[in-house]
Amino acid sequence: MTKAGSNLKLDGDGKPIWLLLELTYQCPLKCAFCSNPLAFDQTRDQELSTDEWKRVMREARALGALQIGFSGGEPTLRKDLEALVGEATDLGFYTNLITSGIGLTVRRLEALRDAGLKHIQLGFQSSDRHTANLLAGVDSFDRKLAIAKEIKALGFPMVLNVPITRQNIAQVPDIIRLASRLGVEYLELANVQYYNWALVNREQLLPSRAELERAEAEVNRARDQLGDSMTIFFVIPDYYEGRPKACMNGWGSIHLTIAPDGAALPCSQARSIDSLSFPSVRDHSLSWLWHQSPAFQAFRGDSWMREPCRSCDERERDFGGCRCQAMLLTGDARNTDPACSKSPHHGIVRQAIAQAEQPRDGGGPLIARDAGFGCGGK
Ligand code: SF4
Ligand code: FES
Repeated sequence: MTKAGSNLKLDGDGKPIWLLLELTYQCPLKCAFCSNPLAFDQTRDQELSTDEWKRVMREARALGALQIGFSGGEPTLRKDLEALVGEATDLGFYTNLITSGIGLTVRRLEALRDAGLKHIQLGFQSSDRHTANLLAGVDSFDRKLAIAKEIKALGFPMVLNVPITRQNIAQVPDIIRLASRLGVEYLELANVQYYNWALVNREQLLPSRAELERAEAEVNRARDQLGDSMTIFFVIPDYYEGRPKACMNGWGSIHLTIAPDGAALPCSQARSIDSLSFPSVRDHSLSWLWHQSPAFQAFRGDSWMREPCRSCDERERDFGGCRCQAMLLTGDARNTDPACSKSPHHGIVRQAIAQAEQPRDGGGPLIARDAGFGCGGK
């Protein structure tokens, strides 16, 4: 079977063209919407070595991987980041650094540029210092602003990635103005997806439909004013769409994440599916992991689907939605993503939306990402 509108196959013959290397789960920030596992600190002593990461990149390139993202946690905590970027460049990858900016210096940026780094995605929480520091869980706004200017001064193409929550959604016009002043090429106003830490904080983070509609109108106004000078991405969250997103373009289709300890994952959230085990690149070749491991086979194609997806004519568009969201919200990854209005579990999402529509009294406190919280959990 091929996907609608593409020649990519879903039967395991596809290539992992989009490779994400989560070099470490360690991070100086404590973002309340962090997508890392709740028990992120459990892999602390098991991170892959420089040579192991280099082998992963060589094997991925041989499998047809084209684009590589260095991510985390905070990837700049790895002292060997420049060496890894250099290896990726030599192998012919298009390289992207996904960073909070904390830990970057002009000297490191120059070294990364010399190693061939092509692109930087800088995470930003808000245009307002108080809100930014609240969402990040630590004082970081001023340092981030400074490094954003340094990234642009060195000529890197940059996407400013701002996770949107109810705390910062009213600041969207200011965030757009800030991004425009910084001269970024792309601004991603990324409505938070509710996994892991964001799910823990969902009641505090999820904006209302009215807030989303106001933000969307502001984005459209800004797009008209700014023309081609900056591209703004803004997608209404799947909770409000009635249809799930085509997560990862289909499970095991084009995306491969390698976790800090070497676990090969069809997406970076996949460890939330506790019925699957995810073997490591330490024990298997990447080719075996991609083509044959049970974890990658589990939801490839559509033979795993239950009703209503099995007989739905939209299944080649969204692949039944997100397996991790189905797991986290319904307890079974084989269920239809409850973001879909056809799902028998859609009431879970409707309830979360109804809560977001309630009048605010400031809400409860945000739970900052912290070691120890997830012990015994995911
Ligand atoms: Fe997609 Fe399944 Fe919903 Fe159909 S029923 S729209 S395939 S999630
Ligand atoms: Fe894992 Fe969607 S995040 S399938």
